[in-house]
Amino acid sequence: MKKVRFGLIGLGNIGSHHFSYLPELENAELTAICDVDKSKLTDLKPPQDFDHDTAAADFDVSNIAKFTDYRAMLDSGKVDAIIIAVPHYFHPEMAKEAFRRGIHVICEKPVAITSREAREMNAAHADSDVVFGAMFQQRTDPVHLKVKEMLEDGTLGNIRRVNWIITSWFRTQTYYDSGGWRGNWTGEGGGVLMNQCPHNLDLFQWFFGLPKKLSALVYLGKWHDITVDDDVSVIMELENGATASFITTTADSPGTNRLEIAADHGKLVLEGGKITFFRTEQPVQKILDESDKGFYSSRPEVIEVPVEAKEYGHRFITQNVVNTILGKEQLLAPGTEGIKSVQLANAILLSGVRGKPVEFPVCEDEFDQLLEELRTHERQHAPDKVFDWEAYLSSFED
Ligand SMILES: NC(=O)c1ccc[n+]([C@@H]2O[C@H](COP(=O)([O-])OP(=O)(O)OC[C@H]3O[C@@H](n4cnc5c(N)ncnc54)[C@H](O)[C@@H]3O)[C@@H](O)[C@H]2O)c1
Repeated sequence: MKKVRFGLIGLGNIGSHHFSYLPELENAELTAICDVDKSKLTDLKPPQDFDHDTAAADFDVSNIAKFTDYRAMLDSGKVDAIIIAVPHYFHPEMAKEAFRRGIHVICEKPVAITSREAREMNAAHADSDVVFGAMFQQRTDPVHLKVKEMLEDGTLGNIRRVNWIITSWFRTQTYYDSGGWRGNWTGEGGGVLMNQCPHNLDLFQWFFGLPKKLSALVYLGKWHDITVDDDVSVIMELENGATASFITTTADSPGTNRLEIAADHGKLVLEGGKITFFRTEQPVQKILDESDKGFYSSRPEVIEVPVEAKEYGHRFITQNVVNTILGKEQLLAPGTEGIKSVQLANAILLSGVRGKPVEFPVCEDEFDQLLEELRTHERQHAPDKVFDWEAYLSSFED
């Protein structure tokens, strides 16, 4: 294969962005698009920020095959790979159908709503020999790559504590009132944990691994007239015994995005796109154990960690998947790792709503039962919030 032929499923917010760069990728072409909403196909225009100089010379919107049924697209023989950019509810089913047909997949985040669904996707992938990538484009951000490097090369030493406040996801009632599949259990299957935080939860597990156990305070509709989570505070115990906190909401303004890692060689702070490392004169545990001063005041070296400025984002994940398919690179964000952020979100919700600590691996039966209860409660007590997927799909039929 010289060029990977892409089919794009979903031309909404993020699908339109994928459409804007796909014609410019190396060794790839956009051959098919699919959306249940026909108007998105008939009104298709060259991408807004389309650059004719960098795109393939023969790129022409009218040459792209158009489908309203994704299975017909998969069976058309026109695509080697797909990007799934539809609501999360459909991700597992579409990915599994592609794997069965030997078609490579890039799946938007979250890969699934439940750990069980994500595990079933991974099992279907294991029976195939295709590439499965997840759209965790924040992994390509140079500051995140740098933090990962500093964690792995021993610069920080043993992790003692992690605090992540990620409250820069402010969303108004108007956002939630725009309706549809978002912000309810029947449509989206979660709130801030399922919609805004999958990237942060993926980075968390990529940096620190999944925790051993956690306890969470989760509020449903605390600040908005919604049924799902909009205010979450979590305390975790990591594999090495360190404690971590993770705090998020869609209701603080101005919000904060600050990651602090206290480690044996000092403290790293990532905030505002800058990494600052406060390196202690000696390892912290050595000072604790050996200093003859009861009240020791550290004078750390303050290092503004240089990070090479580079472009990053969605197109880099997609190009990496193309290069992986062609045998030139390793996957940066394997789709099979998508289950980890889903498990974190599931465990946090389970702990917060049931009011008890949760250990890993999260019990899938318990989570599925909780989600079913939340959906039933929504149908009984907030029928105006319920989203009906069957009615949604049939609304597009002729
Ligand atoms: N990686 C990121 O930075 C990022 C950013 C935004 C959204 N997302 C993810 O992308 C997904 C889509 O989000 P969005 O904001 O673009 O949603 P959206 O509602 O704006 O767009 C979804 C599109 O999918 C189409 N669609 C729905 N069901 C379909 C089906 N069964 N078959 C074909 N087309 C179908 C809709 O008509 C619509 O055009 C979500 O899972 C979301 O979490 C990721």
